[in-house]
Amino acid sequence: MVIVRKSLLTIFFLSFLAVTLAYFMGSCRKEQSTKGLTLLKQAIPESFPDPVYRFEDNPLTKEGFELGRKLFYDPRLSVDNLTPCSSCHQQIAAFGTFEHDRSHGVFNSHTLRNAPVLFNLAWSPLFHWDGEFATLKDEAIHPITGQLEMGETLDGIITKIQGDPEYRKMFKEVFNYPLIRPDYILKALAQFTGSMVCADSKYDQYKKGLVPFTSQEESGYQLYKANCATCHPEPMFTNYEMYNIGLPVDPFLNDYGRMRITGRSEDSLKFKVPTLRNVNISSNYMHDGRFNTLQQCINHYRTGIQQSVTLDPSLTNGIDLTDAEAENLRVFLKTLTDSTILKDPAFSKPVY
Ligand code: HEC
Ligand code: HEC
Repeated sequence: MVIVRKSLLTIFFLSFLAVTLAYFMGSCRKEQSTKGLTLLKQAIPESFPDPVYRFEDNPLTKEGFELGRKLFYDPRLSVDNLTPCSSCHQQIAAFGTFEHDRSHGVFNSHTLRNAPVLFNLAWSPLFHWDGEFATLKDEAIHPITGQLEMGETLDGIITKIQGDPEYRKMFKEVFNYPLIRPDYILKALAQFTGSMVCADSKYDQYKKGLVPFTSQEESGYQLYKANCATCHPEPMFTNYEMYNIGLPVDPFLNDYGRMRITGRSEDSLKFKVPTLRNVNISSNYMHDGRFNTLQQCINHYRTGIQQSVTLDPSLTNGIDLTDAEAENLRVFLKTLTDSTILKDPAFSKPVY
């Protein structure tokens, strides 16, 4: 009897110990320690509003950023070991896919949408052309596991990379935990992609009074303000809302945009407004990459709009522009190119 009571007490004590330990380990992980790490200040250009994402749940550090960068360029994140994030998000195209309608995923698959540019993501309240994801961390699961993107699993990646002493060291340093956990992969990627900022185009320098616009650029700027700024407002050049701009449905893709997520007919054919920053170097255009020149995009608004119930009312009669005005608008859009990010070694493939 005494023995039984003793062992019961031991079991009780051990369970208490386990619960307490688990609690403390859990709370330690929640407040990820940055001791010994170099904290990075989030880049927030003066002319920009407050970002939506402030890295509160994922402290931005030099070490975390570098780990995210290594993962972003690592083909082992894909099931065929050939398709890193950077194969579709290329630095020369402001981290979109260079001159492709849609991008190529594992085993020569073809994604169903055009890879968007990646920068100023910390200001975006939603991701993907249909706004399916609300955070960068959640978004990253999609390309990793998508059969047309990387076709991997987070556990599969861990199995591949945990034998790499460099990775083990980096993860341990950043997350202060001896094992690589799925969540850490997503957090590190979010530190890298969330740090990409573009705010140094000719337009930005013009706004600061550092350079003048040519008369053609100035005229294009006025036309932009009159016709495009409601959906593509300064300084982000998107209002992050979703609209149907009257693009005819591609009968092969049958993509109805936001309706895929909400199931509501009023969301039919609505897609997220993309930024116009760097638009001159991010061809192809629109959610399915159907256009490859800016002229085609501008001409769509002039003469290509297809009527439907959910078409944005401001576009019912199209946008009336002469050929010269359309050209001036195109010239203005070219002032939005920020070539700094395209060459910035901090964001390029790491060399070891
Ligand atoms: C096979 C090509 C491909 C690969 C590889 C790929 N992506 Fe993408 N990415 C896309 C496409 C296509 C979309 C648009 C998806 C949609 O709207 O449905 C996208 C969208 C995104 C977005 C949303 C951007 C926005 O403004 O809405 C982010 C962020 C992103 N990808 C990050 C990543 C990261 C991080 C990786 C690696 C883990 C990655 N991508 C790998 C093709 C790819
Ligand atoms: C009613 C809102 C609205 C107005 C007004 C509007 N746009 Fe758009 N724009 C969008 C949306 C939404 C998309 C994405 C559509 C899609 O892919 O299905 C888009 C896409 C684009 C693209 C393609 C960018 C890329 O990276 O794929 C360009 C270029 C563009 N718009 C330029 C303009 C110009 C120039 C004007 C003014 C003449 C204008 N837009 C007016 C909402 C608008």
